[in-house]
Amino acid sequence: VTHTTAATPDIRALARQLRDREFPWTAATTYLNNASVGPLPERTRLALEAFNARRTAPHQLPDRDVLAMHAAARVAAAELIGAVPEEIALVPSTSVGLNIAARALPLQRGDIVLVSDREFPANVYPWQALRGQGVELELAPATSDGWPDEDHLVERLADPRVRVLAVSLVQFSNGFRADLERLSAACRANGAYLVVDAIQGLGHTPLDVRRLAVDLLACGGQKWLLSPFGSGFLYVRRELAATLEPVAVGWTGYEGNDDYANLTRYTDTLRDDARRFEVGTMGTQDVIGLTTSLGLLEELGIEAIAAYVHALAEPVLAWARRHEIRVVSPQDGIHRSAIVCVAPDDARAAHRQLKAAGIVCALREGAIRFSPHCYNTLEEMEKVVEVLEGMPG
Ligand SMILES: Cc1ncc(COP(=O)(O)O)c(C=O)c1O
Repeated sequence: VTHTTAATPDIRALARQLRDREFPWTAATTYLNNASVGPLPERTRLALEAFNARRTAPHQLPDRDVLAMHAAARVAAAELIGAVPEEIALVPSTSVGLNIAARALPLQRGDIVLVSDREFPANVYPWQALRGQGVELELAPATSDGWPDEDHLVERLADPRVRVLAVSLVQFSNGFRADLERLSAACRANGAYLVVDAIQGLGHTPLDVRRLAVDLLACGGQKWLLSPFGSGFLYVRRELAATLEPVAVGWTGYEGNDDYANLTRYTDTLRDDARRFEVGTMGTQDVIGLTTSLGLLEELGIEAIAAYVHALAEPVLAWARRHEIRVVSPQDGIHRSAIVCVAPDDARAAHRQLKAAGIVCALREGAIRFSPHCYNTLEEMEKVVEVLEGMPG
């Protein structure tokens, strides 16, 4: 079976080059598990190695160079989401970013944080942990498909006690992409804050935080951003940053501390931008990796990646249609993403069979999750279908 993807010829050619240049190990393994951990491109490995070579002798790494590396990462992260660098704090994981959001937002006893049931737990526990302050986490029931029920979320946002909606850009177990346009409009209308866990979406989903009026957004680098463990960022809307108090503070979050010759002129003045949420010394090697990998994604273009990964899903979707297998992911329109989940009767056996054929994918909530990225190919997806077709009964 051949599937033509006329809309995406450029990136198809690019994908081949990418495999040779940046992901040479793909010659031996079909890796369709970017929603768990994304690979490091060769250029990123080399950047880390070059950095660490300098790092062996610290005098080769002047402070100003290190600060410039952090600044470059904030610029790259800002460009990815349509923000400005002052709206970016570098953080080591999505969870750290979400905790900062949960603790900094001015929530009071009786306020409600709205989260959809079935969200990844990283976007549940930081809100649940506010219970001691009398802030209630409301888990909104999912639809019968297991997706966030946006009608219900919008309805609940009319309740003035709902002060926060915290939602994943893309759901980890079914690939449902949030309609942020709609949700953010509902948040605005009610004066509620919109917090986005973006780790399953950024890298393959175009996003403009300005247009969508997102208040805070947290994203780890280790999945679709093809970046090191320990890399990530938190976006805080410019108008908001100076009004939010970080619970954990570090010396790097205060004004005047870029001058290492005069550090004991303590001040009361937190930086007035998102850097007030950065706490002390960074894992600069991880930051370098993030900048380098974001450079690769920018070269390819997120719009092009989005179109490409949608095309990659087609063989599996066609297989599911042929055999009337349940597709757990939205298949078209705004809710579609790079993640495609299918639930054959015995998903566990199918997963085993795929693994035996050298195909890496995941089993999540009773479905097989395929999460192809820019370097995967249609041939790989056809190989998946071959294995699935060969399954008994
Ligand atoms: C939606 C979502 N949020 C967060 C995470 C991970 O969070 P962290 O970067 O804090 O480990 C995952 C990982 O699977 C996820 O799918």
